[in-house]
Amino acid sequence: MSTQTTKDLETLLQARYGKGTEVLDALNPTIETLFQHKSVRGFTAQPLAPNTAELLVAAAQSASTSSNLQTWSVVAVEDQGRKDRLAAMAGNQKWISACPLFLVWVADLARLKALGDEHQHAYESLNYLEMLIMGTIDASLAAQNAAIAAESLDLGIVYIGGIRNKPLDVAKELGLPPMSFATFGMCVGHPDPATTAKNVVKPRLPQSAVLHRETYHPTAHKEAVDAYNATMEKFYAEQAMKPLGPWHIQSLNRVRGPEAMAGRDLLVDALKKLGFDMR
Ligand SMILES: Cc1cc2nc3c(=O)[nH]c(=O)nc-3n(C[C@H](O)[C@H](O)[C@H](O)COP(=O)(O)O)c2cc1C
Repeated sequence: MSTQTTKDLETLLQARYGKGTEVLDALNPTIETLFQHKSVRGFTAQPLAPNTAELLVAAAQSASTSSNLQTWSVVAVEDQGRKDRLAAMAGNQKWISACPLFLVWVADLARLKALGDEHQHAYESLNYLEMLIMGTIDASLAAQNAAIAAESLDLGIVYIGGIRNKPLDVAKELGLPPMSFATFGMCVGHPDPATTAKNVVKPRLPQSAVLHRETYHPTAHKEAVDAYNATMEKFYAEQAMKPLGPWHIQSLNRVRGPEAMAGRDLLVDALKKLGFDMR
C-alpha cells in the first residue's frame, strides 16, 4: 500500500455524506481506503494474483476475536459450478458467478465441538445463543478486515447476505459440519471498469443519527433522516438512477414483514437443523 493519499479529506467526506462533515483533520492511506469503500458488482475475467486468498485470510485473522476463541472459518470458492449454484441459492446474484473468488464467512462452533469430542471435554456453552452471536461477530470482524485489505489492493468486493436465503442448501453445498453457519458471502475480484465507473461512493446517514453522546437520543434520527433523504435524492439524480422512494420508505419496505425476507424468516428453524440450540 502506498504511503501517499490521492484525495483530500474534504472531498472524501463530501462523497460519504453528501455535505460538509467535520472530523479530525487527519488523513492517511488506511482512512482513505475506508472512506472510499463502495460495493463492486461487476468483475473482469482477470484471475487474482496467486495467494491472494491467503493474504486476505491473514488480514482476516489479524482482526480481534472474542477471547481468542477464533470461532469463525472461511470457505474460498473458485469452482465455477459451485459459484453458479451458490449464486442461484442467493437469489440469482450474477456477480457471484462472475467473481474469481467467492468467500463464504462461517460462524464456526464446530471446531470447538470437535475438540471437545476429541478430548472428552464438556462444551455445553456452545448450545447458547451467546456463542452463535460470538461466532457471527468474529466472522464479521474477520471479513471486514479482508474487505479492507482487498480494497487497499484496488480489488473490489461485495458482501452477499443472500446466502442466508437458503442456509441448509448452502451448508450442504459447502459440506459444513453441524454447529457451523454460513453468515454471508463476499465476492472478490478486479472491478470491471465498464460497470464500476458508474459506481460511486454511496452517502451514509449524517453522523447525528448514529453518533450519540453519553446516552442514546431516541429522536436524533428525525432531522438526520430528512437531510439524508435529500442527499440521496440528489445522489440518485446524479447517477441517473430511479430510487423506489425516499430512503426511509425503501428501508421500511425492507423490514415490513416476513414476505420481504426472502426466506430468512425461517432462519431460526434452519439454525436448529444446523445444530444450534440457541438457549
Ligand atoms: C452483511 C451484508 C450483506 C449484504 N448482502 C448483499 C447481497 O446479498 N447482495 C448485494 O448485491 N449487496 C449486498 N450487500 C451490500 C450492501 O447493499 C451495500 O453495502 C450497501 O448498499 C451500501 O453500499 P456500499 O457498500 O456501496 O457503500 C450486503 C452488505 C452487507 C454488509
